[in-house]
Amino acid sequence: MSQVELPSYTAQSPEVAARFAKIKLRPVILDIQNLTKTFHSHTTLENISLQVHRRELICVVGPSGCGKSTLIRIVAGLETLTSGKLLVDGKPVDGPGSDRGMVFQGYTLFPWLTVKRNVMFGLQVAGESSTIAESEARQWIELVGLSKFEHSYPHELSGGMKQRVAIARALANKPRILLMDEPYGALDPTTRCKMQSYLMQIWRQVDVTILFVTHDLDEAVLLADRIIVLGANPSRILEIIEVPVPRPRSVAQMLTPEFLATKHRIEELIHGTEEPAPLPNIRLTMAGDDVE
Ligand SMILES: Nc1ncnc2c1ncn2[C@@H]1O[C@H](COP(=O)(O)OP(=O)(O)OP(=O)(O)O)[C@@H](O)[C@H]1O
Ligand SMILES: [Mg+2]
Repeated sequence: MSQVELPSYTAQSPEVAARFAKIKLRPVILDIQNLTKTFHSHTTLENISLQVHRRELICVVGPSGCGKSTLIRIVAGLETLTSGKLLVDGKPVDGPGSDRGMVFQGYTLFPWLTVKRNVMFGLQVAGESSTIAESEARQWIELVGLSKFEHSYPHELSGGMKQRVAIARALANKPRILLMDEPYGALDPTTRCKMQSYLMQIWRQVDVTILFVTHDLDEAVLLADRIIVLGANPSRILEIIEVPVPRPRSVAQMLTPEFLATKHRIEELIHGTEEPAPLPNIRLTMAGDDVE
């Protein structure tokens, strides 16, 4: 079969180029300069530099163990950096803060609280009265489409619904940056697809910048303005890709040439072009089996 000719992933339509030009005019909200992280003399992240503009949606991809979670945890203030600089809104990060919200893969809701109480929790900890916390929580629950479930407990919800509550809970604290570490990794493909659409809808309505870690390249290309491709050992930025797929996005775009060209480029960066090494020739079949 002949190879399909793909356009260059760097080719942008005038509307996509105009969108990137506009994004670059927005203030830098997250500024990472020459960040290095060492665990017991092992360098996990080396010389990472990245400037993220307000309301950008950035995806981070790379092989398992390359340091994606470490990077996001450093931005969250849950892990320290070894050298370099990390600024949020121009201020150095020295620990967790309400300007950064986090959504993980595991469901982190409080099982003993209802949906509404889970979303109210951070607001009340921040000192809001229960009347204000309740009315704000209701708005966020409505935004993620779960108004009918505000009195339900987490165990009464599906995995996708729990993650929507987790997103509502993180957004209720009005973070400047939403940090998401493989938030849909445990969901089945259909639910995952719905969650991607929900996230894009929410992001269109809320002034929030998103840093989203994923293993799923379709998810990265579907969601991101830019994709940070990390290599391993130690992890460096291999390339920062401006996704040439126009917005608004939908799964129908997954077979467009610009979508496929972007995905192909990431695969090339992560896996290289070489063939996998041949497997050793070990005979595991029983004598007499015919597998030829
Ligand atoms: N607290 C820690 N102490 C020591 N080493 C750590 C610690 N946290 C992470 N590491 C190491 O840093 C490297 C990167 O880990 P990290 O979890 O960031 O990778 P990842 O890209 O998120 O992987 P995955 O895709 O599997 O989630 C790994 O080699 C890991 O063993
Ligand atoms: Mg990880």
